Amino acid sequence: MKYYFAPLEGITGFVFRRLHHKYFGGPDKYYMPFVSAMEKGKIKKREKRDILPENNENIPAVPQILTNSSLDFLDTAEMITELGYPEISINLGCPALSVVKRGKGSGFLSNPDKLDRFLDEVFNGMEKRGITLISENWEGEELKSPDKPSVRLSVKTRIGRRDSEVVPKLIEIYNRYPMSELTVHPRVGKDFYRGTPDLEAFRAFYEESRHPLVYNGDIYAEDDLQKIKEMFPKVQNIMIGRGLLQDPALIRRFNGFEGADKDELKAFTAELYQQYRVEMETPGAGGINAVNRMKELWGFLSVNFSEKERCIRKILRAKNPVEYESAVREIWQ
Ligand SMILES: Cc1cc2nc3c(=O)[nH]c(=O)nc-3n(C[C@H](O)[C@H](O)[C@H](O)COP(=O)(O)O)c2cc1C
Repeated sequence: MKYYFAPLEGITGFVFRRLHHKYFGGPDKYYMPFVSAMEKGKIKKREKRDILPENNENIPAVPQILTNSSLDFLDTAEMITELGYPEISINLGCPALSVVKRGKGSGFLSNPDKLDRFLDEVFNGMEKRGITLISENWEGEELKSPDKPSVRLSVKTRIGRRDSEVVPKLIEIYNRYPMSELTVHPRVGKDFYRGTPDLEAFRAFYEESRHPLVYNGDIYAEDDLQKIKEMFPKVQNIMIGRGLLQDPALIRRFNGFEGADKDELKAFTAELYQQYRVEMETPGAGGINAVNRMKELWGFLSVNFSEKERCIRKILRAKNPVEYESAVREIWQ
């Protein structure tokens, strides 16, 4: 079984990835939060910093691109391939309204014909630019021998924008392109993270997709994993997001090793905060960026501190580093 860390925009940036890898390890790949492709391969400064190889040294990190323009995708993918990454993920799942209403992310799923054209232009366009695409079948055999430069294109998808009626069409479209893996988060965009994953929709992919499938959605504990393994025994790859924020050692545990202990969590969160103080500081911010970033994480870690509810509330309400640091000191007492 392979386990991947899901991309979590606003949380799993390079500082987080490096420290998670250092303290807990476990994921076979770390998917990076998406970069928005703009004209001529340009991306925002902050996003560029996140994908720079020197910020991801020795981490199996996979950049992800969000766009509905094949030209912008190709320019950005070419730039990323030149940086030396072996895989690029295509985001077809983002549910944010600002993204969806521009026909991107899960918004793209409500226009399957346009999506089909986009994928056609993307997959053929890479080859036309002299970049060999590597893909594999379910048994892991490479369908093309690697040439230089080469890259894998994988897709991360939801099962629709408003409803899952589009699933058969999506499967048919995805089956036409040599993607290296297909990650399915079986929710529709409209549901954001509400409700439970639609496992029957996932089953349709399981039965009909020709690509190696990655299951993603609501894996928080061993029981959740067992259920997916039993229902879909051929699935060899699992992607986990929020479960790893609640328990950063979840994959390590799934691999048969120790769970996270208190000292480890304490050291991890302390170093994370210190590095955010340096990396995220802007003129006049006085540390609040780092505090806010840590509060996001504590929102998930809080499940481990049910007997310290009052301290957690203090952390989540902290308005500056002094309040944050004092609340954190209390939680470890
Ligand atoms: C705060 C947050 C940010 C996310 N950012 C991204 C992203 O940049 N790209 C992406 O493909 N999915 C993104 N997702 C979706 C997750 O990668 C994942 O598909 C989803 O959380 C379901 O998996 P989980 O139940 O294991 O968390 C995000 C989810 C959350 C909660």
